[in-house]
Amino acid sequence: MPKNIIVSNRLPVQAQKTDETWSFTPTSGGLATGMKSVHQEGDSLWVGWPGVSSDGLDEKNKNQISKNLEKNQYRPVFLNDAELDNFYFGFSNKCLWPLFHYFIEYHQFDTQQWEYYIEVNQKFADEVLQVIEDGDIVWIHDYQLMLCPQMIKDVKPEVTIGFFLHIPFPSFEIFRIFPERECLLNGLLGADVIGFHTYDYERHFLSSVKRILNFDVNFNIILHHGREIVVNTFPMGIDFKKFEFAALENARNNSLESSELKKQINAHKLENDGKLILSIDRLDYTKGVVNRLLAFERFLDIYPDYHDKIRLVMLAVPSRSKVAQYKQLKRQTDEVVGRINGKFATVNWTPVWYYYRSMEFENLIDLYVSSDVAMITPLRDGMNLVAKEYLATRVDDDGVLILSELAGSSKELPQALLVNPFDIEQLAQSIKTAIEMPIKEQKERNSISRKRIRRYDINKWSSNFMQALNESANKESASQVKWVNTLVAKKLSDSYKKSNKRLLLLDYDGTLVGFHENPNKAIPSETLLELLENLSQQKDTDLVIISGRPHEFLEQHFAHLNLILVAEHGLFIKYPNAPWEEKKGASSEWKEHLLPVLDTFTDNTPGTFIEHKKNSLVWHYRKADPELGIAKSVELKTVLASLLPNDLALLDGNKVLELVPANINKGVVALDLFNSKRYDFILVAGDDVTDENMFLNLPSEVHKIKIGKKKTAAEYYIRNYANFLSFLKKLVP
Ligand code: UDP
Ligand code: G6P
Repeated sequence: MPKNIIVSNRLPVQAQKTDETWSFTPTSGGLATGMKSVHQEGDSLWVGWPGVSSDGLDEKNKNQISKNLEKNQYRPVFLNDAELDNFYFGFSNKCLWPLFHYFIEYHQFDTQQWEYYIEVNQKFADEVLQVIEDGDIVWIHDYQLMLCPQMIKDVKPEVTIGFFLHIPFPSFEIFRIFPERECLLNGLLGADVIGFHTYDYERHFLSSVKRILNFDVNFNIILHHGREIVVNTFPMGIDFKKFEFAALENARNNSLESSELKKQINAHKLENDGKLILSIDRLDYTKGVVNRLLAFERFLDIYPDYHDKIRLVMLAVPSRSKVAQYKQLKRQTDEVVGRINGKFATVNWTPVWYYYRSMEFENLIDLYVSSDVAMITPLRDGMNLVAKEYLATRVDDDGVLILSELAGSSKELPQALLVNPFDIEQLAQSIKTAIEMPIKEQKERNSISRKRIRRYDINKWSSNFMQALNESANKESASQVKWVNTLVAKKLSDSYKKSNKRLLLLDYDGTLVGFHENPNKAIPSETLLELLENLSQQKDTDLVIISGRPHEFLEQHFAHLNLILVAEHGLFIKYPNAPWEEKKGASSEWKEHLLPVLDTFTDNTPGTFIEHKKNSLVWHYRKADPELGIAKSVELKTVLASLLPNDLALLDGNKVLELVPANINKGVVALDLFNSKRYDFILVAGDDVTDENMFLNLPSEVHKIKIGKKKTAAEYYIRNYANFLSFLKKLVP
């Protein structure tokens, strides 16, 4: 039975050795707590690091850990000290984490750490490849494993892979700073579905793909070497029922037995009608802990009436404490807490209760249910689940959530008191607004927010993501266009070899060579020329290159071979050992009327240029800003449509618009060639819209192959030109 394989750097449990036995404690962090619920629900295997260095672990220890983890369907990837220092503390948390959270000044790129990042990603990919079986779906998580999707796809192209990023994806202007940006994007594009918490992260990612890799993006679909990759927003939810149920239980037990923590909290609340403000995070500089403390201090400064009556309960969970910035943050937090308590404390009142540790679930619930206000004010946060957990425990809809507008969850919770976490004055005022908010207003706000997070919970989140993955898998198998897999390739090459008279019609750009930003650089390699020569020398084989390129280009590179050359979409044709023939009746008077229009668009759209061919004009926008290029091409099409004479056609090609005489297109020439002899094997291949005319004009007995998986009238597709060349090689004995 096919399974889902979850892959993340950290498993939801951490191994610890006490005496001779191993124990396992839950790990903190949104990824672990969220995915734990998903894992418990379904039949999945979770591959990840068990939280302990493998240096010092012998085989017996490793076996013990693996055996224990196996009971919960966890599979360990063991990492040694060097890997942890370079991959985890180093590259993941000193380079990617700060950069993706807009802390540019903290981010360091180190080549050795980058090499470890590649190696460890490969280690995770290899572990997955060892356990993967037919039909399994792989779901990879977070910034530590961004290269993994491609590493798995390279070995198993048929496997469906999902990737979810739990942190923000920064704007292109930030991401472009990263030296290995292409590599990271290509790593992610091994996935079939890529998910983000918010639409902002999604559009930042798509913008980087367009600008850095120059790939075509159609709304939220990336066309990548013939694959369609779906990019979408899936805001992560929480296990709402679990938190709500725990809160109800907590209320029931309140009068019976309470934890020490709860007793202390209750005592505070009884004195002077005391109010509690809650703050819970991993101690991370992205969480805005210091700003929050400063705001609390400011509040106490300006509103002395609240002294004795209000308390900030701050739970800071230790995190990544080997990284310098985290150490520094710990020092700074201790200092500010000390200063505030020193400045305001009385015999009966300590304004900040500060815990530097993690808490058990029951104690977290104690804190959530007892707090009048939760102050969640990260400087940047992918989502922030604590905000949602707080609301889930407010079973009577009371309580106030002060939430940073820079947390992903603020998009879903606009009814919270949204604040700018850098504005200390506003934060201080928001504390006052929160504690003075009438209960009616609290309930009105929370009932809307709670409805949202109850409905869109962790199960809904994961099932939406899995649905997108399944759709991607089904789309592949249900598509009308068949993939030229090994079997189909063999069938085609067998019938090619058995045939007596063959015609091969091959487009050039995108079919025999890859796209190049500068078309003059997309010239045929020696290997390609050799392949074409071998094919053309086969007995009874007519090999045609049919291109939109100027005839001078084809002349220069192919005239010495035994080929039929068709240039400028059929305006020129040349048979072996014969001169070029130009199609009759094509005038070019229209050029002087339309060239000024193209000139205007070129002037207004940096990066575009006009190519002059004998009987056509081509407007290229591949090198323009991608969004501007598309917008301007749509505008230009509209303008030209109203000016186009009957005998002129507008071809909408791959990042080009081409004006050509209407009676000239590849389909017309292809049909002429088809009718010229009695062929018993005909194959036509092309990647572009202009090649569709060939697919449409030629009858169904012709084998039609589209390069790249775009909408097409062809019967087959091949992922990219390199795969097509491998296929052609198989035709030569
Ligand atoms: N959490 C925990 N133990 C604690 C404090 C918090 O397990 O002592 C959990 C908390 O319930 C939440 C997660 O850690 O589910 C934090 O997730 P969030 O998205 O808020 O932040 P992250 O740590 O992932 O950046
Ligand atoms: C965030 C990240 C997770 C990470 C968690 C805890 O939620 O998105 O990938 O697991 O923090 O951090 P840690 O470094 O302890 O795994």
